[in-house]
Amino acid sequence: MRKIAVFISGEGSNASKMLINFREREGLEVALVYSSRPNENLKVLCEDFGIVYQYRPWNDPEKIKLLEFCKKMRIDWVVLAGFLKLIPAAFIAHFPNKILNIHPALLPKFGGKGMYGMHVHNAVIHAKEIESGITIHYVNGAYDEGQIIKQFRVSISENETSETLSTKVRTLEHKYFSDTVAELIMSNKT
Ligand code: GAR
Repeated sequence: MRKIAVFISGEGSNASKMLINFREREGLEVALVYSSRPNENLKVLCEDFGIVYQYRPWNDPEKIKLLEFCKKMRIDWVVLAGFLKLIPAAFIAHFPNKILNIHPALLPKFGGKGMYGMHVHNAVIHAKEIESGITIHYVNGAYDEGQIIKQFRVSISENETSETLSTKVRTLEHKYFSDTVAELIMSNKT
């Protein structure tokens, strides 16, 4: 059984999809959801599914215990599903190539510190790109610079706005993120 921790900072719509998707699968278990902001929906879903839910502000001094907590729970993989904080080096060292992230654009463009949510879609529209999409990638010590695993694309129409693009990208995330993560984890032999 591969035990997974999901980290979130926002609404948690991708995390919810993942919890529901993985419940139907053998060999994968979401054991922990850590949220850096209070998230009542995820808390309730975790209670229903018997998953440990932890909310703690990221700048809380106790946050350094998150790695200890994951070790104690024997977590194998960490999935960042809209998690906006930089993962510390010690954490990455403990989970080499076992931390995955989703980004709402086609990296290496439109990534880096401060590039999240609508900031990304605004930048894509401003740059007059003809396509955008999602990138699922490994996490290293720099924002959005880890090795790319898979990308899914959408075309941008002439009258596209940041809002309509955001809806298109969100649809891609909900359709592909959970399955891609599940397939990757199940095919990994390390
Ligand atoms: C998602 O669009 C995800 O791609 C993005 O945060 C959103 C979280 O939505 N992540 C980043 O921007 C990372 N740089 P959710 O909380 O509803 O799943």
